[in-house]
Amino acid sequence: MDLKDISRGYDFTGRTAAITGGAGLIGGEIARALGSCGANVAILDRDPERADRLIDMLGCDPNCSAIVFADVLKRDTLVRAEAVIRERLGPVDILINAAGGNAARATTRPEQSLFDLDEAAIRETIELNTMGTIEPCRVFGKGMAERGEGVILNISSMTALRPLSRVVAYSAAKAAISNFTQWLAVHMAQEYSPQIRVNAIAPGFLIGKQNRDLLLNPDGSLTPRGQTIIDQTPLGRFGEPEELLGAVLWLLSPLSGFVTGAVVPLDGGFSAYSGV
Ligand SMILES: NC(=O)c1ccc[n+]([C@@H]2O[C@H](COP(=O)([O-])OP(=O)(O)OC[C@H]3O[C@@H](n4cnc5c(N)ncnc54)[C@H](O)[C@@H]3O)[C@@H](O)[C@H]2O)c1
Repeated sequence: MDLKDISRGYDFTGRTAAITGGAGLIGGEIARALGSCGANVAILDRDPERADRLIDMLGCDPNCSAIVFADVLKRDTLVRAEAVIRERLGPVDILINAAGGNAARATTRPEQSLFDLDEAAIRETIELNTMGTIEPCRVFGKGMAERGEGVILNISSMTALRPLSRVVAYSAAKAAISNFTQWLAVHMAQEYSPQIRVNAIAPGFLIGKQNRDLLLNPDGSLTPRGQTIIDQTPLGRFGEPEELLGAVLWLLSPLSGFVTGAVVPLDGGFSAYSGV
């Protein structure tokens, strides 16, 4: 790419992006960013009401955006969603796997020991964060393999590097996602096309539905866990969803054409700090 054209590296006009969990905090922000960079954006979520509100907020042109019901744990809904998006917006060039999260029921606490945790809650959390990424990669990755190009972005977590206390199922699942991202990057490049790239971001701590109760008291002050995180984060604060966007757009852009199999920490320095 000519250096004079470098800003065009972030022009996604004519590209179609599917975002699972696209009605959520991070998926919604990525949808907004890709839409404003010209992409056709399909928001996949199992919560259509939330998705509707998001589309209203984005003011998206219906010719280049779609809300599509999909439950990432139900393969048939993903297959249907892929067909709907292909028909309305064209084949998916970009897949963002942003459906995921931790469940309070799968989190240890003084009154809920590891040995008392509900087995179903552990399974649900592991499934949502593993199969909920693997299946969309299989459904949407097939078209990429056939066309010989595409970009996939998964969402791992700080807890994949060194497990955070309490979130047992979430930690195991996110470690699996970092591993799967590397596996799929190698597989797609070697078996199908070196023009298919697969990467992940590993965000640090943003206040969201999944962690609010763990990090903040009802009056907005920090819980002891929240304080420990801030003390361990050199930037001294939680992150904002829009602060992930530079890295996300970079990973999706042809300007990162040589980047695959990377899990990029976006964490205010959390993973770099030894605590000393
Ligand atoms: N918020 C953080 O601090 C943080 C940090 C690191 C990683 N992450 C990860 O980033 C991703 C997005 O997190 P978020 O904070 O935006 O969460 P969120 O709860 O705001 O958004 C998740 C979205 O996924 C949807 N969803 C849940 N289960 C689904 C299913 N089975 N099928 C389809 N959609 C489903 C929800 O309806 C919601 O819209 C998750 O994988 C999360 O683990 C978040």
